[in-house]
Amino acid sequence: MGEIISVNKKKYYNYIAEKTKIYKLINMTRFSSSVAELRSSEIRDLMSLATAPDMISFAGGMPGNELFPLNKIDEILNSLSDKEKQVALQYGPTTGLPTLLESLADWLEKKGLPVKSNKLIITTGSLQAINILAKAFLDPGDSVLVETPSFIGALSAFRSYQANLITVPLNGDGMDINLLKQRLKAASSKPKFLYYSPNFHNPAGIIYSEKVKKQMIEVLKNQEIPVIEDDVYSDLYFYEKDVPKMQLIKTMDPEGIDVCYTGSFSKILGPGLRLGWMLVPESIYQKCELIKQSIDACSPSISQVVADKFIREGHIDNYIAEVREEYKKRGFAMIETLEDCMPDSVTFEKPRGGFYTWLQLPEGCDATAVLKKCIEKGVVVVTGKTFDPDGIKNDHIRVSFCNTDVETIKRGVPVIADAIKELI
Ligand SMILES: Cc1ncc(COP(=O)(O)O)c(C=O)c1O
Repeated sequence: MGEIISVNKKKYYNYIAEKTKIYKLINMTRFSSSVAELRSSEIRDLMSLATAPDMISFAGGMPGNELFPLNKIDEILNSLSDKEKQVALQYGPTTGLPTLLESLADWLEKKGLPVKSNKLIITTGSLQAINILAKAFLDPGDSVLVETPSFIGALSAFRSYQANLITVPLNGDGMDINLLKQRLKAASSKPKFLYYSPNFHNPAGIIYSEKVKKQMIEVLKNQEIPVIEDDVYSDLYFYEKDVPKMQLIKTMDPEGIDVCYTGSFSKILGPGLRLGWMLVPESIYQKCELIKQSIDACSPSISQVVADKFIREGHIDNYIAEVREEYKKRGFAMIETLEDCMPDSVTFEKPRGGFYTWLQLPEGCDATAVLKKCIEKGVVVVTGKTFDPDGIKNDHIRVSFCNTDVETIKRGVPVIADAIKELI
């Protein structure tokens, strides 16, 4: 371990030297006001040190490499006709290849989504869908309702349009409705939309209860505040019995609210495809199409051809069922190891699916100090303040179980426990 620390220190000094040079250059360059304040965070700097080959990373939110359906992808690629290969290498329509739009629409419809009364757009990851929606709705200084904690990618997208983030804290069953009402009342201007993530929240790991979703609908009905419903983890449940209560607001199709539903192939097939989607009301669709046209014209055709075949040939549900089992094993190993080795003062909601555990640290224990100690010991996690829209609250760490096997979880989690014990 000593070697990791000294290698990292050296890297750190080089890194700071490089950064200083870059900042000097930045100061001479007239960037736009929307990016001038963007800075690499302290956490990102710390993370860049955590690259030693034997580091155990509980930091990422990506699928396990060894879980990708390599044989099926090989078969699909090898089976393509010349015509299909030409389509795969060509630009496609901005809203998506018609074949994928059709197969994806069927798949989403089977899950109960109102595909026929809405419009579907294939996007370059669901982060692009969120970004396009943000661009569609936000002027500088506009307010947006977000959960705290919240998915950092969405927060960064909203910040890049100079949004004012109004935070609503999360409880174990979803956002705090009384605080949502209070925030709405206190807002100096009406928020342009509400962004939330209903199932296996990143980072909080929770599922929204039906009660909270219904209360959200009541609060937002006829308020001209659209909802962006970011749903990338719903398929990765551990318990079949949870499925009915995981119903999406989009599926409920409430009157008086524009619900913009976003989803992705990233966690259920492969993020390298860079394919996601949005299902939005017709009134919002056209603007989004025009915005996407100006960003990247279309999402990768080759990925769309592969994803389309993966659905059409009937692989997707079987594959998801397989990985669901593996993530369940990893999630259970995570819960068991945390219960065995963490001090009682560390608390967490047991995950019921998805990729993450969200640990509340003992009183007074700072997540950045925990991260530093963990890195010294060869393990990486993510600090709570990364997900705090205000960038302050740092009394949690996010520990992922998606990209580490059971044995590594059992080996790595006690290291985090030791780091915390040394700090309290
Ligand atoms: C909650 C949530 N939404 C959206 C995304 C974006 O995923 P992608 O752009 O790969 O579809 C992620 C990725 O981690 C996520 O955790």
